[in-house]
Amino acid sequence: MLLSTIYAVLFYLATAVFVVGLAYRIRLYARTPAPLNIPTTPAPITQSGVVLRMTKEVVLFESLFKSNKWTWLFGWVFHMAMLLVVLRHLRYFTEPVWFWVSLIQPFGMYAGFAMVAGLAALWGRRFLVERIKYISSPSDHLMLMLLIGIGASGLMMKYVAHTDIISLKAYILGLMYFDWQPLPADPVLLVHLSLVLILMFIFPISKLLHAPGVFFSPTRNQVENTREKRYVPSGGK
Ligand code: HEM
Repeated sequence: MLLSTIYAVLFYLATAVFVVGLAYRIRLYARTPAPLNIPTTPAPITQSGVVLRMTKEVVLFESLFKSNKWTWLFGWVFHMAMLLVVLRHLRYFTEPVWFWVSLIQPFGMYAGFAMVAGLAALWGRRFLVERIKYISSPSDHLMLMLLIGIGASGLMMKYVAHTDIISLKAYILGLMYFDWQPLPADPVLLVHLSLVLILMFIFPISKLLHAPGVFFSPTRNQVENTREKRYVPSGGK
């Protein structure tokens, strides 16, 4: 029961740090002045054009595609696979499980492998491409290690050392509804959960902030209409 309590406290803390930290960062981004109109050309000339550009950026990683095909391929595969994996995990948080969450379960399984493969390739590039190796900092390596650790321990549970999913789900729903239940103590599950906790704690101070940050990039989110409309710098309050 001690273990269940420790993880429960850690999960509440991590959730608070994640939510408040992220909200704080997003507020900072939103308030940072954008003093110049600097959309990268060819740029959209209407607001709906900007929405289309941002959608292509977020869904297809368009600017990464233009800059490097290999990084784009590995990065895109990793992110899309992670999205599927995370959506697949919703089955641990919902009762009854939503229809579309049951529908994606089989794809989510393969996505686990695709996610780890993409991450491994992104990590390999930091050793094998001299130019990238030179600019890689410890945090670049550590974030990749963390995500690979989460993926590898997840796959271990799926294919090697199964955990008691029913009890785990009861534990998670218990955390959500304040009706605490015991946590299964399998080592691989504890590793998986501990790494997820670390991820939640460090997310608001890490490079992973590029996820909300992309929406605040002036070169992507500005309309190219300075001849039609006077540009007024934003933010700075
Ligand atoms: C509180 C949060 C989480 C819980 C309780 C959890 C739990 C689990 C469990 C029980 C499995 C084994 C599935 C099975 O045997 O069918 C699993 C697999 C996996 N987990 Fe997590 N996990 C969490 C968060 C995450 C996050 C944030 C990621 C990715 C960033 C992740 C990545 C994976 C992967 C790649 C697999 C293997 C493929 C799959 O079964 O979908 N997990 N997780």
